[in-house]
Amino acid sequence: MYCTRNVTSDLVWVGADDRRLAMFEGVYSVPDGVSYNSYLLLDEKTVLFDTVDAAVDKVFFENVEHALGGRQLDYVVVQHMEPDHSATLSGILLRYPDVTVVCNKKTENMIYQFFGSGLKLNVLSVKEGDVLETGAHKLTFLMAPMVHWPEVMVTYDSADGILFSADAFGTFGALNGALFADEVDFFADYLKEARRYYTNIVGKYGTQVQALLKKAVAVEIHMICPLHGFVWRKDIGDYVAKYQQWSRYEPETTGVMIAYASVYGNTENVANILACKLRDMGIRTKMFDVSVTASSEIVAAAFEYSHLVFASTTYNAGIFITMDELLRDLASHNLQNRTVAFIENGSWAATSGKLMREIIGSLKNMTVLEESVSLKSSLAKEQLGDVERLAEAITAAMSKESAPAEEKKKGFVCKICGYVYEGDELPADFICPLCKHGAEDFEPL
Ligand code: FEO
Repeated sequence: MYCTRNVTSDLVWVGADDRRLAMFEGVYSVPDGVSYNSYLLLDEKTVLFDTVDAAVDKVFFENVEHALGGRQLDYVVVQHMEPDHSATLSGILLRYPDVTVVCNKKTENMIYQFFGSGLKLNVLSVKEGDVLETGAHKLTFLMAPMVHWPEVMVTYDSADGILFSADAFGTFGALNGALFADEVDFFADYLKEARRYYTNIVGKYGTQVQALLKKAVAVEIHMICPLHGFVWRKDIGDYVAKYQQWSRYEPETTGVMIAYASVYGNTENVANILACKLRDMGIRTKMFDVSVTASSEIVAAAFEYSHLVFASTTYNAGIFITMDELLRDLASHNLQNRTVAFIENGSWAATSGKLMREIIGSLKNMTVLEESVSLKSSLAKEQLGDVERLAEAITAAMSKESAPAEEKKKGFVCKICGYVYEGDELPADFICPLCKHGAEDFEPL
């Protein structure tokens, strides 16, 4: 039986939740499920924005049929060819053989790659800035390469100010009946999964996300319809501000994330002692055992925290397996702008510190602290001072980093969304490009 919700009077959500999937893309656990969003516009012409994963095909086809109410499907806009949004495209083509597929050239090629070169398609090929008028609505197509695949594009409906944003602004987690972010306490209950989604899915492509955000702030947006997670119609600026921060690789939390790999508990013990000393100094800490917590969780935390400590035993003359995987994962997600320190352990030839430094030190704008702790099997009593010095070095780096930044920055911050206007004076008629509030909602930095 169909299960749909209206987004606006002529736009219908025809997607579905999947709560049975264990690993999204085969690698990211989704304990709270995931939604595959698809939207049907009922204008003079009917337009379907993307399809869904094969796992929810039955209800999706029923949703589309119900929402069409006996009308023909005129267009299907394919914004992203990853199969979680396109696996059921072939089913749509079978059911609505006269439908026109609206996509760019790269997408068209991928359609044939996925479904075979013999597929019969009516294609309306679009490029940056092309417009499709469907009656009352006017759809403008904007390319968003590498957010998250090279063929990705987004669509802006100027009639209602809706941005169909493909994977951007999505989150892990099923919708559970709620369609709009303002129907839940998003920032309390969903931000963590939104961050994990962002960092792991598009975290590598900060520059490309920034390019998309520039296009987004140039148009008036009243609603964002992503392909996963909630539709945004309120407090859009707050969420866009998060995307600004994440895509600039700016930490959200001043504090220390400590990730450790410990076979017999001795490396873990030093990590705990360090965390206690940092807490004594009033520093916020977060700890992970990399053999227990999935990498996607730690990658997200590394994007959140300002300072990172990696502690690993030496294993087969290298870094312990799970720590090695984590560090390479962080490198492949392009993590940057962090201050890091290392703790190594080795009963006869400790090499993990040097090797961890090589991986993380090669990333952009990383400050590697000279202070470190090197154990031989376990922490000797006389090494407690080394841990103390490491804690002090981290706090000293924290104060040094925050002080000049505050002195240097001159400008005004939007109290609504966090947008920063740089300059000595804020023009009286200034309008925030993110949340559209006026100069009265800004305050000096
Ligand atoms: Fe949700 Fe890149 O697919």
